[in-house]
Amino acid sequence: MNPISPELILRLKSAKRCVVLSGSGISAESGIPTFRDALTGLWTHFRAEDLATAEAFQHDPELVWRWYQWRRELIGRVNPNPGHTAIVDLEYLLPDVIVITQNVDGLHQRAGSRRVIEFHGNIHRNICTAEQRVIDIDTTGTDSPPACPDCGAALRPDVVWFGEPIPPLALQAAIAAVQVCDLLIAIGTSAQVQPAADLAHAAKRAGATIVELNPNPTPMTGIADFVLSGPAGIILPQLIEQLRSLQATQVAV
Ligand code: OAD
Repeated sequence: MNPISPELILRLKSAKRCVVLSGSGISAESGIPTFRDALTGLWTHFRAEDLATAEAFQHDPELVWRWYQWRRELIGRVNPNPGHTAIVDLEYLLPDVIVITQNVDGLHQRAGSRRVIEFHGNIHRNICTAEQRVIDIDTTGTDSPPACPDCGAALRPDVVWFGEPIPPLALQAAIAAVQVCDLLIAIGTSAQVQPAADLAHAAKRAGATIVELNPNPTPMTGIADFVLSGPAGIILPQLIEQLRSLQATQVAV
């Protein structure tokens, strides 16, 4: 694990607008598997084409539904970890923090983050496949997609599948945030899925400082001004502690 540089804490302290771009690695320490980690990643054990595409849902809706029900149950049993909590702390220490998350688990919101852009949707919601409207019904215990109470079409999880567009409002809000931020911290993402990965490049082009927090290098590492190599649940609380100490010192002087 590499140490946190004092220069990074100074940059963080002076950041007027900060974006946190998170991926599945932030939830790994809560017990939710990532997608691409070599041993535990979901896409190491399952084929994305069979489970996370509109074609897969058309071909075998029960299989896809049961997979999402399994993930919902898994997520329901776990809690936000110190990495999520540290991001909430950051929101109290800096004037403007926006979280753009690729995660569908809702753990940032459960931890208390107030401004979260759900880039890939939210697994806890369902939408009607005919009208794309959110339908609020309890699906606990179902093992096939329930019918929409209004029109009878099948419901599906409100998540973005491969080949589908990002929800337009989330995309617009995310692009607007990265264009004006002065610091972007990418946490626990392999930076392999577009357009999410391109958000860091857009922030860099607009002049932001890029920080990457990940135990492993990614395609984003090359544009990072600071690389924090290690688990988010350990490093983020340290970052917050150092930011707090710097802010306290400066108030006292
Ligand atoms: P990946 O599984 O591709 O990447 C997870 C990243 O987290 C890896 O780079 C790991 O090194 C890192 N990581 C693992 N443990 C960590 C920890 N404790 N702290 C910090 N980092 C850690 O997941 P994503 O980049 O989120 O899309 O994947 C992007 C998208 O691909 C997902 O949103 C999902 C998936 O298919 C959709 O569902 C549309």
